[in-house]
Amino acid sequence: MEWFETVEAMRAWSRGRRARGETVGLVPTMGYLHRGHMALVARARECADRVVVSIFVNPTQFGPGEDFDRYPRDPERDRRMCEEAGVDAVFAPAPAELYPPGYQTYVTVEEVSRPLCGASRPGHFRGVATVVLKLFHAVEPDVAVFGEKDYQQLQVVRRMVRDLDVPVRIEGVATVREPDGLALSSRNTYLSPEERRQALSISRALGRAQALASSGVVEAARIADEVEGIIAGAGLRIDYVEVRHPETLEPVETVVPRAVVAVAAFAGDTRLIDNRVVVAGEDAGGAK
Ligand code: PAF
Repeated sequence: MEWFETVEAMRAWSRGRRARGETVGLVPTMGYLHRGHMALVARARECADRVVVSIFVNPTQFGPGEDFDRYPRDPERDRRMCEEAGVDAVFAPAPAELYPPGYQTYVTVEEVSRPLCGASRPGHFRGVATVVLKLFHAVEPDVAVFGEKDYQQLQVVRRMVRDLDVPVRIEGVATVREPDGLALSSRNTYLSPEERRQALSISRALGRAQALASSGVVEAARIADEVEGIIAGAGLRIDYVEVRHPETLEPVETVVPRAVVAVAAFAGDTRLIDNRVVVAGEDAGGAK
């Protein structure tokens, strides 16, 4: 497995592979890899001949007072996991490689960045869109794979790629969960056992949202109320519970034919996000 820390070396490798007629898939990450990331790697492997994982804790997507400094990092473990998963190359630049002194250019995806996490974390998606475009320029992938757990991020990236004519196919992969329903996240490592137990209310509430929609309760406000009740009842502090159009993320009155129920809530100091695309009339089944 190759390991690159400069844009120049990364791009030269990627161009070399493409010159041989191979396709390149990129999995952008902030490291501290887990099974959720490995599902993205597996999908990239299905979509492309070569797989690149980028590992970069992107300072521009963290606001003042957020967890940039304490975000979990373990490059050695990440390297082993990538090697074991058959990743072909890792791109792990230092912050100054992507944001050298004098840096001043940012990408803003307007409407789809505004609600939900965009409202709670001003500037977050500007940082995400900027770094993702920079990673695309460094790796020049044919396809890039993102998790649906960061649902709004996926919509922001899709919109940016369409609007800026970026020649990269975007693939979304379903959220990977623990057997008890908790969505995998590098930030789960912050949770105490009690907070982790409380956090299970989020996936439970999203399951309830689908059950309601399946039983004919399709009003967005009623579904949001129930979801909020379950999560607040478990002791979490709600940031938002919103029912939105699955692509534009505009508010909807009902979940017909489908809508995304998006949640952000604090367990102690840890902000957790999760979502479920709820389909009116569909069998509730298990958690997504
Ligand atoms: O989802 C993430 O880990 C990050 O937001 C991303 C896409 C790697 C950009 O920093």
